[in-house]
Amino acid sequence: ATAGDFAGRILNWYDRAARDLPWRIGPGDRTVPDPYRVWLAEIMLQQTTVAAVTGYFLKFTARWPTVADLAAADDADVMAAWAGLGYYARARNLLACARTVVAAHGGHFPDSEAGLRALPGIGDYTAASVAAIAFGRPAVVIDANIERVLARHRLITTPLPLAKREIRAALAPLVPEDRPGDFAQALMDLGATVCTPRAPACAICPVMGDCRARGRADIERIPVKPPK
Ligand code: ADE
Repeated sequence: ATAGDFAGRILNWYDRAARDLPWRIGPGDRTVPDPYRVWLAEIMLQQTTVAAVTGYFLKFTARWPTVADLAAADDADVMAAWAGLGYYARARNLLACARTVVAAHGGHFPDSEAGLRALPGIGDYTAASVAAIAFGRPAVVIDANIERVLARHRLITTPLPLAKREIRAALAPLVPEDRPGDFAQALMDLGATVCTPRAPACAICPVMGDCRARGRADIERIPVKPPK
């Protein structure tokens, strides 16, 4: 199967099965994701589940609808609103980042991976995901769900973290030039709802046809954890 087949099947599935998550649209009648909302969601989702983040995301965007609103907020108000999400360094970096975007970039997020990576609190993952989702850049986005989907599909059995290089090398040529953000989010959704850590639902997977782990008794052990 070609790279285009893989991306095509993944995007086709996403068009039918995408989770309806509040950072994927809007605000208002916008149909293109707002970089501020994409960035805020990705920061919140770093160490926290979708279910836990959704309420916080709605609260933050209602109270601070733009990056300029957040940049102008009082530190104590933002820290209080963040309470319960944990990893409070994220909230401090969040404010530092919002203020940098306003002070150094006129309130517009940089539209490249390198530009995003230079902002406070934005690491490789967040730079890639915001570049792909908010700006349509063909960045290679890898989170734990995507890692599992690729490791299984390609039967990458090298233990983590060594496997990361192979997973990146396998994924990079599959990223489509059009819809790279949907492609990344589709793989996240596939990992969260179909290619789950336990009892994956291979029968309904859009890329089961050439999945090398399908039917293996040890599929739940892929990706392989680091040796103790
Ligand atoms: N986890 C991290 N980013 C995500 C996104 N954009 N959609 C769903 N789950 C995610």
